[in-house]
Amino acid sequence: MRVICKEDYDSASRAAADIIAAQILLKKDSRIGLATGSTPVGAYKRLVEKYEANELDFSDVITANLDEYRGLPKTHDQSYRYFMDTNLFDHVNIKKENTYVPDGMEQDAKKACSDYDRILEEKIGRFDLQLLGIGGDGHIGFNEPSDHFCVNTQCVKLEEQTIKDNARLFFSGDESAVPKEAYTMGIGFIMRSKRIILMATGKGKRDIVEKAFSGPVTPYVPASVLQLHPDVILVGDFDAIPETLRQG
Ligand code: F6R
Repeated sequence: MRVICKEDYDSASRAAADIIAAQILLKKDSRIGLATGSTPVGAYKRLVEKYEANELDFSDVITANLDEYRGLPKTHDQSYRYFMDTNLFDHVNIKKENTYVPDGMEQDAKKACSDYDRILEEKIGRFDLQLLGIGGDGHIGFNEPSDHFCVNTQCVKLEEQTIKDNARLFFSGDESAVPKEAYTMGIGFIMRSKRIILMATGKGKRDIVEKAFSGPVTPYVPASVLQLHPDVILVGDFDAIPETLRQG
């Protein structure tokens, strides 16, 4: 694993955006896996700036997101489709039909998951680059701690901590407003990516980053599986990345 540790959130966001931009410059039709949440917002901003400066062309890029709340329509301002549109897709020349997010409005969970797995197989195959954040309980996508690593897209019950963490983003700030379930890409497809960037910033992530990358590989800390991937880049700031993990 490589570690890029920057002084603050802005520089970490720049570093992550530079890696994504380099990937697109290297391969115009890159398949890129994307995350939502507060961590990647700065990186998406930087990518938009690069596009506006004519440094990047998204016209052949194909993306697929990690997850979506079950029961939220695309138009809901906390849906992950809405997040992606407003933070990135609406501001660059990506073709919307080349951007995939699980369908939160498909009530039949089995169908929602198998539909998304089919899209991933047919349209992506394997990501050139997957961007991840990390939850306070070690989740990646919405793969919560469990007794096994889930391979395929699944419907998950969100952990109390995840619901609490995400309540701040909902209008009322109220936990009851947060959906209790989500569809998430499985860990199998994430691990199939050629390269993975995990972004972690802020003091609140320090303990879980340490557990995930210095502790044992266990499905009770889902991100720990990344220790087994041959090309992971941990990008973060001094607050989130413990000294023991920093290099150079
Ligand atoms: C969202 C996702 C989640 C987040 C994680 C961290 O698509 O994949 O795993 O990355 O919950 O969220 P933030 O960045 O808000 O701390």
